[in-house]
Amino acid sequence: MMCESSLMRCLQLCVSLLMVVRLQCKVTAPERVEAPVELPFTLSCMVSKGRGDTLKQVRWLDVQNKTLLTYEPSQKDSVSGQQHVELAPSPKDTSAITIRRVGFRDEGCYTCIFDLYPGGSQEGHTCLTVTSRVTAEGNKTAVSGKAAALSCSYGLPEKVQQVLWRHTAKQRDSSGVASYAKYSDPMIEPPYQERAWLTPSLSHSQLSIRPVIIQDEGCYTCEYHTYPEGTKSATVCLTVFVLPKPQVSYKSTSPGVIEANCTAVSRPPAEIVWNVERDNRTMGPPVTSQLQQGDGTTLVISTLTVQSGLLKDVSVKCLVHHKGLESPIAVSMNTKIGTALTILISVTTVAALLVISLCFCLWKCFLRKEDDGV
Ligand SMILES: *[C@@H]1O[C@H](CO)[C@@H](O)[C@H](O)[C@H]1NC(C)=O
Ligand SMILES: *[C@@H]1O[C@H](CO)[C@@H](O)[C@H](O)[C@H]1NC(C)=O
Ligand SMILES: *[C@@H]1O[C@H](CO)[C@@H](O)[C@H](O)[C@H]1NC(C)=O
Ligand SMILES: *[C@@H]1O[C@H](CO)[C@@H](O)[C@H](O)[C@H]1NC(C)=O
Repeated sequence: MMCESSLMRCLQLCVSLLMVVRLQCKVTAPERVEAPVELPFTLSCMVSKGRGDTLKQVRWLDVQNKTLLTYEPSQKDSVSGQQHVELAPSPKDTSAITIRRVGFRDEGCYTCIFDLYPGGSQEGHTCLTVTSRVTAEGNKTAVSGKAAALSCSYGLPEKVQQVLWRHTAKQRDSSGVASYAKYSDPMIEPPYQERAWLTPSLSHSQLSIRPVIIQDEGCYTCEYHTYPEGTKSATVCLTVFVLPKPQVSYKSTSPGVIEANCTAVSRPPAEIVWNVERDNRTMGPPVTSQLQQGDGTTLVISTLTVQSGLLKDVSVKCLVHHKGLESPIAVSMNTKIGTALTILISVTTVAALLVISLCFCLWKCFLRKEDDGV
């Protein structure tokens, strides 16, 4: 009896010991990892060896259970496997491999197998999800009447089912502009028909608008509807400029005093300065006023009062500065240019008269000769 019970004890002990060995000997690997597309990514597994076990070989299987890489830790040049992966440096009892450039096809579950002696093979699994972000070009400005192009990109077109562009104007709800779904043509919403185009692409999406109108100002969101991750988006804002076409007019308000107006309609409002502001013959600084036009533009009037003598000596110009212009527009109100023009016109007229009379003379002479001939 005694013997039997001690045998039982012994067996129990052995079983529990074996279980401990079994428990000790296991592979730990992260269950899920996320890898950004187009970048290198390292996968790793760690083995806890049983006492007396030696690691003979490590094998990695890819998402299709094909051999990705194998090596024997004791031999440095024993690495063999596919081109797009390499063995990464790792601590003892850990194995790490680097996918040189992660792509959509690398998504799935990987297996690492540690061949131990005498413990047998132990394996671990780690599942990789390839991720990407939507990137948009920076904010843009466009000139009313001209073209604007807004673009976004997403690195995993294989996961995209639809690209949708929305427009949010100031203090308004967003509205759809255009969309492109897999296996179909780009769709343009009615308000943008004939004025907007969308590239048929699920990765690099470009929305072009031409001609741009003031109402197009606001922020545009490009939404990539992906499966299974859901909607990913980015936003880019558009500012619409209306360039100024300044004009100068002037009249004499009292003898020897001239009032000049320089006007410019634009968006945003233009800044007007005069090139003679510091001349002592101007009668005070210019007076500027702004008038909001109903269409989103602003009329700026700058009034300068000068002594008429000033116009005889210097060329008076108004300079219109605007964010949408590379350099300011200069408009002259000068009488000097007026005299030059008058001289030019007179000279041209005299020359024309001379030519006409010469022609007339020649024609007369020719006719007379012909008459003589008859
Ligand atoms: C790979 O092997 C595992 C079991 O080890 C199995 O569950 C999985 O379906 C296999 N995958 C493929 C693509 O054969
Ligand atoms: C773009 O414009 C919006 C609104 O005008 C602003 O909130 C955002 O910070 C701007 N982004 C960049 C990158 O300048
Ligand atoms: C200049 O503008 C003011 C304000 O609009 C106007 O009263 C004045 O008649 C204008 N003068 C000229 C010369 O156009
Ligand atoms: C205006 O300036 C000129 C020189 O720039 C000077 O000769 C003249 O006396 C000044 N006139 C007045 C009224 O200050």
